[in-house]
Amino acid sequence: MIGEQELRQALARIRQKTDAKPRLGLVLGSGLGEYGDHLPNAIAVPYGEIPHMPVSTVAGHKGQFLINEDVVCMQGRFHYYEGYDMNEVVMGVRLMRLMGVKTLVLTNAAGGVEPTFAEGTLMLLTDHINFMGQNPLRGPNLDFLGPRFPDMSHCYSLRLRHMAKQTASTLGILLAEGVYCAFSGPSYETPEEVRMARKMGAQAVGMSTVPECIAAVHCGMEVLGISCITNAAAGVKDQSLSHQDIIAVTQRVKGDFTRLIDGICQKILAQP
Ligand code: HPA
Repeated sequence: MIGEQELRQALARIRQKTDAKPRLGLVLGSGLGEYGDHLPNAIAVPYGEIPHMPVSTVAGHKGQFLINEDVVCMQGRFHYYEGYDMNEVVMGVRLMRLMGVKTLVLTNAAGGVEPTFAEGTLMLLTDHINFMGQNPLRGPNLDFLGPRFPDMSHCYSLRLRHMAKQTASTLGILLAEGVYCAFSGPSYETPEEVRMARKMGAQAVGMSTVPECIAAVHCGMEVLGISCITNAAAGVKDQSLSHQDIIAVTQRVKGDFTRLIDGICQKILAQP
């Protein structure tokens, strides 16, 4: 169990490398991690150097924090399907909060449930459905982080969504909006599960982001979520799904994704 003591020990190790107190946190999803390589004057802290920290095992994910004065970036995240407990899955987010982060941008690769979403569409999360059958806050509440029963009524900040839309419009990047439904994975969904997700109100399906959003809201962070729709979800089109194809789409979208994230980060950091 990653509790207060484990988090404080992990933070102490990061503090041996940097005393930066970045205000903005970024979690970079599958194939989207390269963004972090351009962070100026960043110090890398590999997850393997941090006590109690899991190490991400998925191809297309590095495993390190990149930290500068303003921003901390997670290059690679932890997924529930890798076998970690939920409190390990959200450890990085909690460490970012303890470093000083107040605003968190979560990104992911996702399957498009909405049939009009082309491959490569960027989608702003308006809300999510936790269909993972688990909640990262289960167990003793970490009172030093937040309350037992956090309010999830506005988990993806309207203020940040406005900023993201303005940025996208200035840059001429199409930014769709929708609800993200998280499954535990690692198998992709069946066509019938995707139809169910659609009936429940989802426009996208994926295997991440939701635990991190819950943990971030719990500890008082303002959250923005952006999906890169890498494929039509199972059954939406007549096709098969492969991780390689999905990573290939993230590579194609990298340019727009980078410009959008850059623009949003600049806007967030321009605020007091
Ligand atoms: N389903 C779940 N996760 C995903 C998908 C998908 O279709 N595409 C990328 N990540």
